[in-house]
Amino acid sequence: MKTILVTGACGQIGSELVTKLRSLYGEDHVVATDIRVAVDNPAQGDGPYETLDVTDGKQFLEIAKKYQVDAVIHLAALLSAKAEANPQRAWHLNMTGLVNGLETARELQCQFFTPSSIAAFGPSTPQDQTPQDTIQRPNTIYGVTKVSGELLCDYYYQRFNVDTRGVRFPGLISYVTPPGGGTTDYAVEIYYHAVQHKKYTSYIAAGTKMDMMYMPDALDAIVQLMEADPTKLVHRNAFNISAMSFAPEDVAAAIRARIPEFLLTFDVDPIRQRIAESWPNSIDSRCAVDEWGFRPRYDLESMTKDMLDKLLARHRMP
Ligand code: SER
Repeated sequence: MKTILVTGACGQIGSELVTKLRSLYGEDHVVATDIRVAVDNPAQGDGPYETLDVTDGKQFLEIAKKYQVDAVIHLAALLSAKAEANPQRAWHLNMTGLVNGLETARELQCQFFTPSSIAAFGPSTPQDQTPQDTIQRPNTIYGVTKVSGELLCDYYYQRFNVDTRGVRFPGLISYVTPPGGGTTDYAVEIYYHAVQHKKYTSYIAAGTKMDMMYMPDALDAIVQLMEADPTKLVHRNAFNISAMSFAPEDVAAAIRARIPEFLLTFDVDPIRQRIAESWPNSIDSRCAVDEWGFRPRYDLESMTKDMLDKLLARHRMP
């Protein structure tokens, strides 16, 4: 049975992924790590937790060796808007962390997964139904680290035979752990505000479409790709995957089906708007479908129903 090390385990993806992996592979077979001292997360059970700064390569390797891990899922990174506020720190965390993760995987000859993002595309990329293989000239530091990461993962596979795999995630929406400092965060905040205040002011302008996905589909995609038959993978890293594409007013309309008085206003943040405009309107996930059977379950309507059900239930609790 395999043992998996997860970095960024307290983050938006990690906090739910650890719970899912522990239910699939057993509590003791998932080593949760984060720069934070363990937070109390009853959903994750009593499995191993280690404090790890991913920029410390020695510590990364030591922890992986201690548990004799067979796979590393490397999630620790700064998101787009936070990265733009501190490009040097973003490069250091996103790239040094990635190199340390890849080196650990090389040394232990284990599987390696890390997410890329729709941010790996830029203004010169075809914006609609963006193909898997296309122009990638991002103009954000986050995007630059993501393209570099995609190339580095391909390189480690070709040069050192490390079993690297990865997807380009769109904006991820969940009701468990909020994202921190991304451009697509509005699509999470809007649900919290709808439930609490029945109104939301969007920092992204009307008409700005971006790809999105509900967290359960994102977690399934990670597990499915990690378990995929390697002989079927033409691409290994950076698979385009998306479940839906929408603009702020589209989410508002979906919310109004349940909360008719919901009001959406706009106060556009030029920095995040510029980032959003440099990303595709919608990406083409065909290679992920063909090569490993990617199939998301949630669209905007079914995601909105589930988000509001969960958040309203929590809101009503005393
Ligand atoms: N959701 C991320 C962000 O907005 C995109 O990878 O930064």
